[in-house]
Amino acid sequence: MKTNINVAIIGVGNCASALVQGVYYYQKVARDQRPVGIVFERVGPYTIQDIRFVAAFDVDKRKIGKDLAEAIFSPPNNAYKVTEVEPLGVTVKPGILLDGVADQLKNTFIPVAESTLEDVVRELNSANAHVAINFLPTGAQRASETYAEAAIKAGCAFVNAMPAMIANHPEIPKRFEESKLPLAGDDIQNQVGATVLHKAIIHLLHIRGVKIIDTYQINIGGTPDFLNLMYRKEQKEKTKTEAVLKMAEGQEFPAYIAPVAYIPFLGSKKIAHMLIEAQGLAGVPIRIRVDLEVYDPWNNAGIMVDVIRIMKLALDRGVGGPVYSLCAWAFKNPPIHAPPEIARKWVEEFIEGKRDR
Ligand SMILES: NC(=O)c1ccc[n+]([C@@H]2O[C@H](COP(=O)([O-])OP(=O)(O)OC[C@H]3O[C@@H](n4cnc5c(N)ncnc54)[C@H](O)[C@@H]3O)[C@@H](O)[C@H]2O)c1
Repeated sequence: MKTNINVAIIGVGNCASALVQGVYYYQKVARDQRPVGIVFERVGPYTIQDIRFVAAFDVDKRKIGKDLAEAIFSPPNNAYKVTEVEPLGVTVKPGILLDGVADQLKNTFIPVAESTLEDVVRELNSANAHVAINFLPTGAQRASETYAEAAIKAGCAFVNAMPAMIANHPEIPKRFEESKLPLAGDDIQNQVGATVLHKAIIHLLHIRGVKIIDTYQINIGGTPDFLNLMYRKEQKEKTKTEAVLKMAEGQEFPAYIAPVAYIPFLGSKKIAHMLIEAQGLAGVPIRIRVDLEVYDPWNNAGIMVDVIRIMKLALDRGVGGPVYSLCAWAFKNPPIHAPPEIARKWVEEFIEGKRDR
């Protein structure tokens, strides 16, 4: 039977801000408009109208204790503001700090401690959360594992939107499988972000018989996410680079893909520069240059609206472990990679009930 989709947010940063604003926009400001920027208007019985935010956790004292509607606009968040949000009746609770904040940023982020695992489980249970979304900063491996454990204990589906190894962890996916709880990850792939664009170009060259010589993608931006990446970018580089290399399997070429600068005055804009050098018949050169400019947090919110509803569908169907189709479609580092058009077909088949997961 269809119910609302109760969503818990772990890390009330810019991605949470765009997601909460986007859902609110179509529920309250433009309710009669067909939503722009989501792939599936309907996922099984679910539309964007069915999403409710019921719990939120953070470690920054500028956010803890505030209504989620206020916390999403609290510093250092700087996501593009589309709409004011009325109070949601959800108070941001203290999270479990562990490795959530880079040592170099502890003063800037003003972290305060802290809940225990049991506190988080209790909060998820009392909010009757169906889907928990992990929006922690890159580098927070231990904290992400702990929240995944809390989701299992509370009977929630878990979305790992950041690059920690959760859907690719050697043990954690089995725990979700045994608990009959859906898992999606790792590291959400933006709607039209640098990764999916780079993947599509590399895949196109590959299937057209072109030899790829080398490629780079450098990213700059002005969000707290970029600031964190200046200190902890290892997992992000890995998920982005592997995502691109997997699109030309059998070819070997150097790829340099990295966030390279935090530039505060860019705000929540992200700029990506890409170069792909290749050869056609007789080694004749082909060079592709791409410049992409997007509002980074908004670029994943639309995809997340789809992910939330697909995860609820998986929960309704008793799916346990990674939802492979969804992971391949919506994440940079899924357990099974596929080119975008194939991953989309898998997701459509899953929604229609023609594929188990
Ligand atoms: N488009 C995008 O912006 C995009 C795309 C793909 C992946 N991601 C990933 O999603 C994650 C979130 O991005 P963001 O821009 O919202 O980052 P952000 O830095 O704005 O937000 C992270 C939030 O997590 C909080 N936090 C830190 N440690 C915590 C803990 N232990 N428990 C609870 N909260 C904690 C911080 O205080 C902050 O509010 C990042 O890892 C990013 O790399 C973002």
